[in-house]
Amino acid sequence: MCGIVGVVGRGEAAPLLLEALRRLEYRGYDSAGIATLVDGRIERRRAEGKLGNLAATLERDPLPGTTGIGHTRWATHGAPTERNAHPHSTRRVSVVHNGIIENHAELRAEMEAEGAEFETETDTETFVRLVDRHLARGQAPEEAFAAALKRVHGAFALAAVFAGHPRTLMAARQGAPLAVGYGEGEMFVGSDALALAPLTRRIAYLEEGDWAVVTDDGARFHDAQGRPVERAVRVTALTGAVTGKGNYRHFMEKELHEHPAVLGDTLRQYLDPKTLEVRLPRLPFDPARLPRLTISACGSAFLAGLVGRYWIEGLARLPVDADVASELRYRDPPLAEGGGAILVSQSGETADTMAALQLLRAGGQRVLAVVNVPESSMARESDGALLTVAGPEIGVASTKAFTAQLAVLACLAIGFGRARRELSTLDEGRLTQALLEVPGNAAAILERDAEIRELAAEVAKARDVLFLGRGPLYPIALEGALKLKEISYIHAEGYAAGEMKHGPIALVDSDVPVVALCPSGPLFEKTMSNLQEAAARGGRIMAFTDAEGAPALRRFAERVVELPHACAFAAPILHAIPVQLLAYHVAVLKGTDVDQPRNLAKSVTVE
Ligand code: F6R
Repeated sequence: MCGIVGVVGRGEAAPLLLEALRRLEYRGYDSAGIATLVDGRIERRRAEGKLGNLAATLERDPLPGTTGIGHTRWATHGAPTERNAHPHSTRRVSVVHNGIIENHAELRAEMEAEGAEFETETDTETFVRLVDRHLARGQAPEEAFAAALKRVHGAFALAAVFAGHPRTLMAARQGAPLAVGYGEGEMFVGSDALALAPLTRRIAYLEEGDWAVVTDDGARFHDAQGRPVERAVRVTALTGAVTGKGNYRHFMEKELHEHPAVLGDTLRQYLDPKTLEVRLPRLPFDPARLPRLTISACGSAFLAGLVGRYWIEGLARLPVDADVASELRYRDPPLAEGGGAILVSQSGETADTMAALQLLRAGGQRVLAVVNVPESSMARESDGALLTVAGPEIGVASTKAFTAQLAVLACLAIGFGRARRELSTLDEGRLTQALLEVPGNAAAILERDAEIRELAAEVAKARDVLFLGRGPLYPIALEGALKLKEISYIHAEGYAAGEMKHGPIALVDSDVPVVALCPSGPLFEKTMSNLQEAAARGGRIMAFTDAEGAPALRRFAERVVELPHACAFAAPILHAIPVQLLAYHVAVLKGTDVDQPRNLAKSVTVE
């Protein structure tokens, strides 16, 4: 979850490192630091808090040198102080690290018994001291780095520079991504290609267990056994310009307003507007023959998967298990012979989802990833990948990537339904048409911004908020609650509306807004009954519905936001947008750090 970068450059390294860290700040923003080689010596600057603090430190106290490493931190071991900020250094070596060294306590005890003195509480320092111990015995950097790597367990990416070796840096990958960028007479490493995009678009990825020696004229790769290997250099489609905020106050606001374009781009990949058919690329399994499907993911991506379960079971009559990846990975579920799996992820790097991927593949399941980053580990290591075309999502809270995931899952559900002969051509046409209308309807919802802002002013006063929905709107209620908690720090819970009477209704009083997702359709009357039960107990109902549902809701709801009329099939996608907007406006009113909420990071590459 931290971001790491490295440069063996031609000009000063510090400005390049800082710029690359800016593009990685979404991965963590507790503290940051850089180290460079100055006349062969390791020098570093570090600062607690956001990257801006490090930039200010560097302005006061610049750091020359053309080779260096940098880090932006999401603390795992040790508080987010300057002392615990990376890089961690000895006189001989300096290291930046993303991930966790799991056997750090054991290594620390071993080295302390031999007289080593540790300066920090971090797991990273154990690696630094291991390398240093080998260097002190006279080993060359390459040998020392490789020897230390053999001793550490866990999931991580590392980069290191060495005193007296101003044109070299070393990098390693084990369970966390790392890219090597090729410039003209200069080389880079970074946690992702996005960080390196302004510097170069020619990228090679380290594979699991690889380590590399990077010098100004290239990189030499070794596999986990230390054997020299080649890693292909590809040209990434990312450009240096993609991450601006434009005229928006926050990335999240900008990304919310990208919904129509992103949904259009994503749906265009998988739908034919002329024939009104779903057009899926070759899948790693035949949906007609699947006995069972497992869907797994984390956070919002999991909630998209839950909606997918309703759709796939409903349209394709295919049994689906859905489980959060952090549970699935240790649950040891019995997996169906010849079964398939879908993993959903924006980043394609989430550690728990990656572990689920390995478990599912080891259990004989053919795995399809629905991911947003084509070069990600998940896209590369699954049996097949379908891309969401959401572009880079910088705001930590997922918005456009979530609805794009829903769009892909909706197309899959229709495709599976057809393959399993559960859907007539007529139904396929009707559902495809409903999806084709989604981008336009998304644009119409964004026009309700002022109305949703008014609703947000009410919600912002609350201490607790309930979100309710039924059927495929239930996961959207969970998503509404998650988003609100995440960025406004207001306690919120999402419930299946029918579950209220089994406990949560005890929470309802006139201080608790009840946000209801209540589109017209087969479950409308049922949801209405549950809402009336809450209203009868003083609950303040704030409902999202459509023109057909609005009159009935207005009879007892405090506020009703009317969304454009759409086929019930598309309702989860369309209702996701106003709950995201609501969370956004509440967060702005509360003055929180919308794009970088406390304690969170965008790409969770630790367990
Ligand atoms: C919530 C959010 C997270 C992510 C989760 C999975 O707004 O963004 O819950 O959905 O961390 O991340 P990815 O999709 O990158 O696997």
